[in-house]
Amino acid sequence: MRFGVLGTGHWARTTHGTALAEHPEVELVGFWGRDAGNAQRAADECGGTAFTDVDDLLAEVDAVAVALPPDVQADLAVRAAQRGRHLLLDKPLATTLENADAVVRAVQENGVASIVYLTYLFQPDITDWLGRMRDLATEHGPWEGGVFRWAGTIDAPGNPYGNSPWRRQRGGLWDSGPHALSILRPVFGDVERVSAGRGPRDAVVAAFEHASGAGTSLSVTATAPEGTGGSFATIWGPGGRHDLPRFTGTAQEGFRRAVDRLRDAARTGRPDALDVVDARETVAVLAAVEEHLARPDRATAVAHS
Ligand SMILES: NC(=O)c1ccc[n+]([C@@H]2O[C@H](COP(=O)([O-])OP(=O)(O)OC[C@H]3O[C@@H](n4cnc5c(N)ncnc54)[C@H](OP(=O)(O)O)[C@@H]3O)[C@@H](O)[C@H]2O)c1
Repeated sequence: MRFGVLGTGHWARTTHGTALAEHPEVELVGFWGRDAGNAQRAADECGGTAFTDVDDLLAEVDAVAVALPPDVQADLAVRAAQRGRHLLLDKPLATTLENADAVVRAVQENGVASIVYLTYLFQPDITDWLGRMRDLATEHGPWEGGVFRWAGTIDAPGNPYGNSPWRRQRGGLWDSGPHALSILRPVFGDVERVSAGRGPRDAVVAAFEHASGAGTSLSVTATAPEGTGGSFATIWGPGGRHDLPRFTGTAQEGFRRAVDRLRDAARTGRPDALDVVDARETVAVLAAVEEHLARPDRATAVAHS
């Protein structure tokens, strides 16, 4: 499979480009970026050719790996799918349901394979843990609750995402939210109803009611004070109380697994479990949180003395 990378930023070079260049059974054709110098720098660093016209790159590949702001990704994913190119996308699929639905339609109408890369779900430490949690729920009964905290520190000196405009505009809800939901959704199932409140800067707290009857809560931000970033998740139910473990693998190893799963999906014609249809569901949850936050009557004021 011949791959082109759309995007030339830190993640495009250090994860997508590096993993593709190191993979012995795929070819890294090159990088497309709107800035010719940055595309050249990415190609010099990882290999392949620099493209300044996205159609020139699409003409030479079987698949694209996309590391761009989510709604730029959604537009280009539609264009690539319409040309029959398989899609290895990154989280979140988009930041509007309209854009997410457009990608789903383009994938289905053009019969291409798709994966949306979710770091945690390509790490065996995490997928093994999720398997154990599934077994415990089968044995003891469904999980009842969970607390999820996901926080980035993009203002910390040297953070590679400090100049990322989409993170500034859309905040931790859309940057870290997909990571949290990548654990929360497999454990608790569909989210049926949401409510939410705000904290400092982009911080959001959300409460989820699940179809299973479980209730969970989420705290996300991209701008946690320096030294206070990181994630944790704790779940509980008749099967006990459990903390999500840390994973020990690298993002490149995980991305390589995603490449292989995309190749399988393309070969067999069977959609991967982490395709754009699954990713659209996460966008639906995050969009519902945002809709709740926009309601003027969303919160009950406390009657202080
Ligand atoms: N799975 C993970 O753990 C993980 C970690 C990091 C990032 N990601 C994902 O990777 C994707 C990219 O993230 P990022 O941090 O690299 O984003 P970013 O820094 O905000 O943007 C990446 C690149 O997109 C280009 N760009 C921005 N606006 C554009 C536009 N309108 N048209 C064309 N190109 C544009 C910029 O390149 P130029 O300025 O050179 O044109 C920029 O370097 C996101 O979906 C993010 O969620 C995932």
